[in-house]
Amino acid sequence: MANKQKFQAIKGTRDLLPPETELWNRVEQTAREVFGTFGFGEIRPPIFEPTELFARAIGAETDVVAKEMYTFEDHDLPDLAYARSDLKMRNPSVDNLPGIEAYRDRLGDLYAALERAFHAGAVPRTPENRHAITRLGDLSVALGDPSLRSELQGLSHDVRSALEQVKLGDVVTLRPEATASVCRAYIEHNMHALTQPVKLYYTGPMFRRERPQKGRYRQFYQIGAEVLEALQQGQGGAKDIPKDAAIDAEVIEMVMVFFGRLELQGVQLEINSIGDRNCRPQYVELLRAELLKVKDKLGADSQRRIETNPLRVLDSKLESEQEIIAGLPRIGDHLCADCAKHYAEVKRQLGLRGVAYKENWRLVRGLDYYMRTTFEIAAQGLGSQNAVCGGGRYDGLVELLGGPPTKGIGFAIGEDRLILSLQEAGKGGGAQGRDVYIAWMGEKAQATAIAAARTLRNAGFRVELPPVEQKFGKALGQADKLGSRYALILGEDEVASGQWTLKTLADGSQAKYTEAALLEFLKKPCSSPLQG
Ligand code: HAM
Repeated sequence: MANKQKFQAIKGTRDLLPPETELWNRVEQTAREVFGTFGFGEIRPPIFEPTELFARAIGAETDVVAKEMYTFEDHDLPDLAYARSDLKMRNPSVDNLPGIEAYRDRLGDLYAALERAFHAGAVPRTPENRHAITRLGDLSVALGDPSLRSELQGLSHDVRSALEQVKLGDVVTLRPEATASVCRAYIEHNMHALTQPVKLYYTGPMFRRERPQKGRYRQFYQIGAEVLEALQQGQGGAKDIPKDAAIDAEVIEMVMVFFGRLELQGVQLEINSIGDRNCRPQYVELLRAELLKVKDKLGADSQRRIETNPLRVLDSKLESEQEIIAGLPRIGDHLCADCAKHYAEVKRQLGLRGVAYKENWRLVRGLDYYMRTTFEIAAQGLGSQNAVCGGGRYDGLVELLGGPPTKGIGFAIGEDRLILSLQEAGKGGGAQGRDVYIAWMGEKAQATAIAAARTLRNAGFRVELPPVEQKFGKALGQADKLGSRYALILGEDEVASGQWTLKTLADGSQAKYTEAALLEFLKKPCSSPLQG
């Protein structure tokens, strides 16, 4: 019997369908236009990258890297993978001698196969693999030694952990964001040799294994942009501050222009400076010391963050912690002279551009690569997930990934949230329906209808051509359901006379046109609102 299993989109993912996809296209098209006017070009990096790229760029301790990445081993060694997972599941018992021997044989076979694959380069020849494979060999010898049988539990535990460490292929991750990829590409393609700064934008899916809710998905879409500038001889230091701050402000201005063009409602920009490696470490220590004094009053997450990343405590939304956080030392009071100057200049530059902002000293962001400027933008109608854009400056990230000393600033817009906000504000309507529904009857009319459809489509109109003839009454009903503006009626009379009937569905009026006159009429702006 046929399997009746119904497949559904995986939790946290969804299908984007018409007519909503029209809005997605409009939003992306507007981004291309606006970003183009600011001199940005498009980059399309791959959707998966080495896991290590994200771990190093975003930070191993961040939620994104520690908990949310979709990671897998990319290899073509199914037999080895099977033998490895089979062995991982086995748990030999001390009283079962044949069982121990079988376990040891399997381990010995796997060890030998791994050695061969390592030497042939079929598994990555990394120091970690070398170490783990040697360890498996040693454990296989130890399991053959009867005097060590009493330690069987410990040995099989060690086998499992050595197996965990063997990587059969490159470890890759579905990108949780694209800044790391853009920096990787900047290095790989020697973009430091181009005219600086290099301005790039991207759109596309990102993947984070978060708890799904309104505005939060496991596959979501970002529209982002990055400005990268390799340091030239004699550059850097305090004299670059006015230039850097102007770039920060222009990047923020660009997002605001984009949101303005889309008529996004309730847009609120918040900015902060989180210092640099000169001043932030001292501030973080001060914060840690203050947090330790109130540790007992904090929730479990914040308590843990005192050790791992005290700045993230400032992000906490926990009601009971708000009063405590309000009394903590503020980074603005602890910036070094250069960071303070940079921050003041960013604010002046935003003023010059007429960009309204609010300062939020608690805005620290969840990714480790930021320094100095950080910003977030909220929009209306999004509930708790109201950040529609986040970004900041990340000087030094390219260097951290093995490139030359380079400055960076960028942002990413959550496109899903942007669309939600537009829809909630009633700005989500786009062109739908059809311009012209062709109602035809009779064999001769079909040929004329096919030719008319081609002409109208070539002129850019949305045309529905029914595949089989319909009675005119039914055809008009169908045209109405599809949201058509006009019905072009082609019966025997029309075909014979060359005078086609065009019916305006909104008011039922109709008039006759030759093909050429019809085209002219439809091209007039007032007659073709769907073309906008
Ligand atoms: P982010 O703050 O992690 O920054 O993400 C930017 C935006 O992506 C968020 O403000 C939000 O709108 C959207 N977003 C994030 N996670 C989800 C999710 N699970 N579901 C729906 N939307 C989500 C970055 O990704 C940085 N790479 C931004 C950047 C670029 N900084 C410098 N350059």
